[in-house]
This record gives sequence, structure tokens and C-alpha cells, in this order.
Amino acid sequence: MHDAEAEDTQAIRTGAIKLHRSEDFEGMRKAGRLAAQCLDMLCEHVRPGVSTQALDKLAYDFTLDHGAIPACIGYRGYRHTLCISPNHVICHGIPGPKALKNGDILNIDATVIVDGWHGDTSRMYFAGEPKVKARRLIETTFECLWKGIDVVKPGATLRDIGRAIQTHAETQGFSVVRDFCGHGLGRVFHDAPNVVHYAEYKDKYSGVQRAPDTELKPGMFFTIEPMINEGRPDVKVMKDGWTAVSRDKSLSAQFEHSLGVTEDGVEVFTGSPKGLDKPPYDGQHNK
Ligand code: MF3
Ligand code: CO
Ligand code: CO
Repeated sequence: MHDAEAEDTQAIRTGAIKLHRSEDFEGMRKAGRLAAQCLDMLCEHVRPGVSTQALDKLAYDFTLDHGAIPACIGYRGYRHTLCISPNHVICHGIPGPKALKNGDILNIDATVIVDGWHGDTSRMYFAGEPKVKARRLIETTFECLWKGIDVVKPGATLRDIGRAIQTHAETQGFSVVRDFCGHGLGRVFHDAPNVVHYAEYKDKYSGVQRAPDTELKPGMFFTIEPMINEGRPDVKVMKDGWTAVSRDKSLSAQFEHSLGVTEDGVEVFTGSPKGLDKPPYDGQHNK
């Protein structure tokens, strides 16, 4: 379409997966940092009584004030800066006028474009005081993300990432959502590869589904963003075409980081500069 794509055609690829250069890591550091700062900024604003569209407006202003572009606006017709997914919403919740209630849990997902690079990250937040079970789901989901990240190094496979996540989620009695996955990113928002959060499962209709055994190589950029349900993994997308909920209405949680494969491991681009990586957030006015 424009410059970014022209440059992309020059990127080295293995199959469909781009291998980025060291200066590209610098681009992702900047974009990832701003996305994480946006989520940091929101911490003190998430509380009962606040509407999700008010949070979206804060993120929109924050992004523009920092000279960046909200990647989701205009993406496949989406019209908001954030996806905000409370309680049984798995992902792609649309910000709106409804106020948060005491005990709600919510995922907030921000993607910004800085100098053409995409930083994509999400975290869970508390509105007030959620129940113990909701907290345990959130804790496990956070651990799932990190068990996936800890696997990442050259020679490991996409299936190894999925296995680490699935094993932990299922050991804790939860299920891994299969209908959405992580993705390559960089100058492109959603690129190859698909990063599924399971190693293997049996589908009622199509039989055994296995994650690809694609080997990770230095210079690959992708997200890991496990969605973990308290109940069944099955998803329903609402009539708005976006909001994905758990079919059994059970709670769902998600965390997401953008990362790059290095020569000997992994670099996470979207760590919280303030250490606000999971709730409860110090200084969050969540009462
Ligand atoms: N940030 C989401 C992801 O993790 C994508 C949101 S696309 C949108 O990939 F259009 F719904 F915003
Ligand atoms: Co993503
Ligand atoms: Co995201």
C-alpha cells in the first residue's frame, strides 16, 4: 500500500514468517513501550462506575498525545482504540456506555503504531474487589503467558509454546480458547505465524488438531496472548460481529505481550515500565 509495505517486501523470510534485523528490534521497543505505558496509565482509572468508553477515550488521547496511531481504529471496520472485555467476554469487547461494577474483571487490549511498528499488549484489571475464583483465573492466565514466553528461543517450536500454556491451564482446571490465537506482527498488525495456545486437542468434527511444529528463529516477532476460560473453551461471537464470549458464560481472562526471538532467547517489548504487569495495581483507585 505504501512505504511500510515496500520495505516489507525486502524483509528476509522463512516461508511466510519474516525475520527482522536488529534495527527493527529498536522500532518494536518503542512501539511496545508506548502500548505498555498506555495500559499503565489506565490502571488508576479502572474502578466501579467508570464506563468502558471513558477508558477508551483516555487511551485515544494518550496515543495521539504521544505522536502514535491507534492501530485498531479503521482495522476491519473497528472504530475504537481499545478492546475492553469484561467477565465472560473473551476478547474484542467494544467500549461502550455501560459502567463497570464492583467485582468485575476486565481485559484491556491496546495496539499502537509508532514509526510504522505495532506494539500490541493486554492485561487484566479489577473493578473493586473480585471473587477469589476470578483472581485465581487471572493469576493462572498470567502464569500461562509467562510459561509460553519462557519457552521462546531459537530451535523451540510454536507447539512448545502451546504445550506450556495448555498444560498449565488444564492442570489448574481451566480451558484454553482455540478460536483466537497470537500472531506475527511488526510493520503489519496481524501477520504469519498464527501462535495457538494449545499443543493438541480433539475437535468433535475435524478430529485431532495439532499446533504446527514450526521452529522459532532469531528475528521473528509475534504475540503470545492466551485466553483462558473458567469453564468450556467454546466461543460465541455476538451480532455486533466483534464481541466474543464464552458460550457457557463462564469467566475468561487474557494477557498479551509482543516479543522478538533473539539469538539466545526472547525479548519482551511490552513489559510494564511501572511494574504494573498484573492486578491488583498499586495505586489503582479500584474501590
Ligand atoms: N489487539 C488485538 C490482538 O491482540 C486485535 C484487536 S483488532 C480490533 O490481536 F480490531 F478488534 F481492535
Ligand atoms: Co494481538
Ligand atoms: Co492485542
